[in-house]
Amino acid sequence: MTFAFNRGRRLRKNEIIRSMVRENSLTLDDLIYPLFVVEGNGIKKEVSSMPGIYQMSIDYIVDEVRELERLGIKAVILFGIPDHKDEFGSEAYNDNGVIQQAIRAIKENSNIYVITDVCMCEYTSHGHCGIIVDGDVDNDSTLNYLAMEAVSHAKAGADMVAPSDMMDGRVLTIRRSLDSEGFYNIPIMSYAVKYASAFYGPFRDAAESTPQFGDRRSYQMDPANRLEALREARSDINEGADIIMVKPALPYLDIIRDVREKFDMPVAAYNVSGEYSMIMAGIQRGWFDKDRVIMEGLISIKRAGADIILTYFAKEVARIIG
Ligand code: PBG
Repeated sequence: MTFAFNRGRRLRKNEIIRSMVRENSLTLDDLIYPLFVVEGNGIKKEVSSMPGIYQMSIDYIVDEVRELERLGIKAVILFGIPDHKDEFGSEAYNDNGVIQQAIRAIKENSNIYVITDVCMCEYTSHGHCGIIVDGDVDNDSTLNYLAMEAVSHAKAGADMVAPSDMMDGRVLTIRRSLDSEGFYNIPIMSYAVKYASAFYGPFRDAAESTPQFGDRRSYQMDPANRLEALREARSDINEGADIIMVKPALPYLDIIRDVREKFDMPVAAYNVSGEYSMIMAGIQRGWFDKDRVIMEGLISIKRAGADIILTYFAKEVARIIG
């Protein structure tokens, strides 16, 4: 019997051979950049917990989108922050609401692909993702509101809708409503596997959507669960989702891998606000090499199996790989 060892270093000798055998890659085609839209004019306000990320009024959003196109970023996901919030989130499905106006302005001024987040939490006075009945978010009465919101976004010109509320049956309800209004070609990217995560903390500053009582654990998933992710993904696929999202990304790479292996669907992963803030904090303190830590996090998400990544780092990636 002879013993040998593998000389793995042969294929790591220089960048030419390393790139020849590299198994995964990240390109701007993979990325979706989130934008926070506020009402008014001339507003560009940095989110304190997310350095480099701003709430912007529509005039600034239009400039920003032109800049994104110039950088080679092809898609955005929009979050609206209305001045007026009420119990029923009525600004969410107002055809003249902040998001609907933003979609029209973006579409008039650019060719960027516009995805909209469909949820009630930025629009309700209580900050929950649906309609409250007896102290909890009521599933079935929320569905019609979400469907109205999705249709209103499609009418304004959205290219894709992305429901993030975690109500059961919302993909089916939204699909039927879109179809009945003639929007059968608008895809649904479902936040199918969405955990009740502390990593959304900075987003809630950005979107002003912190729940005023309780938390989201009666509708978002328990971080301890893995099999449940497969059930959630399966039911959304059966209801008509076109793309399945896992969220957050970095603490849930195993779940991204599970969903990738189980289903023949495009998989998206949301590299959420807290993942961004954590890495940015380390960069600002000089603890990390900025470009390397950003790229390593994102390639890990690709390696886990994601086809698409929603990330606040998209502009940094454009600069790095530009
Ligand atoms: C809305 C929504 C949230 C995020 C995306 N859509 C927040 C939440 O569920 O509280 C989080 C995004 C991020 O943290 O970057 N429901």
